Amino acid sequence: MKLAPSILSADFGNLQDEVIKIERSGCEYLHVDVMDGHFVPNLTIGPLVLEALKGRTRLVKDVHLMIEHPERYAEAFAKAGADIITVHQEATVHLHRTIQLIKSLGVKAGVSLNPATPVAVLEDILPDLDLVLIMSVNPGFGGQAFIPQALEKVAKLKSMVTARGLNLEIEVDGGIKADNVAEVVRAGADVIVAGSALFGASDFEAEVQKFRTAVK
Ligand code: DX5
Ligand code: ZN
Repeated sequence: MKLAPSILSADFGNLQDEVIKIERSGCEYLHVDVMDGHFVPNLTIGPLVLEALKGRTRLVKDVHLMIEHPERYAEAFAKAGADIITVHQEATVHLHRTIQLIKSLGVKAGVSLNPATPVAVLEDILPDLDLVLIMSVNPGFGGQAFIPQALEKVAKLKSMVTARGLNLEIEVDGGIKADNVAEVVRAGADVIVAGSALFGASDFEAEVQKFRTAVK
């Protein structure tokens, strides 16, 4: 299991320290939640914040775009240092074109699905993807409760990926804590996003260890 702490729940006044904390705890990805106030009812960060972290971390910068017309901003996020750019299937009409655009920028391409979107919509694009992000909350805010139906979606996606021998990562995002991470991984997740559970803990590193122990 790879861990992707979401900086949405971090202390933005001390972002550099927060990133160092993530690195020291042995996590693999840095999950960056970008929201536009249209696709989701919240506004967060733009490429400038990502740019500020350029050259300051070895973490894989995993950028989750919860924005309309993600194709218009992919280049800005690629230039700002994104390693993976994930767009929502619900937010772009020409998903295939958007995925090709992201790849042409030299960045890995991912697609995310809202809780009500079935994994079947990915059937014909799956071989083009580096990552699929299954939302286990409705995107927009940290700290929401895990939607249990996500487990079945992850399992379905996992069997599609295995049956076709594809090489892509399954990431799951929203409401994941030390006490439910094991079932998410058992369902087929490769990468786990966690925001409030990690940053809300009194000891970040100890909480990361709890996640690791839970999936052993
Ligand atoms: C929700 C974001 C998530 C969120 C996760 O829209 O995409 O990445 O920050 O936070 P928790 O782990 O608190 O649900
Ligand atoms: Zn996210």
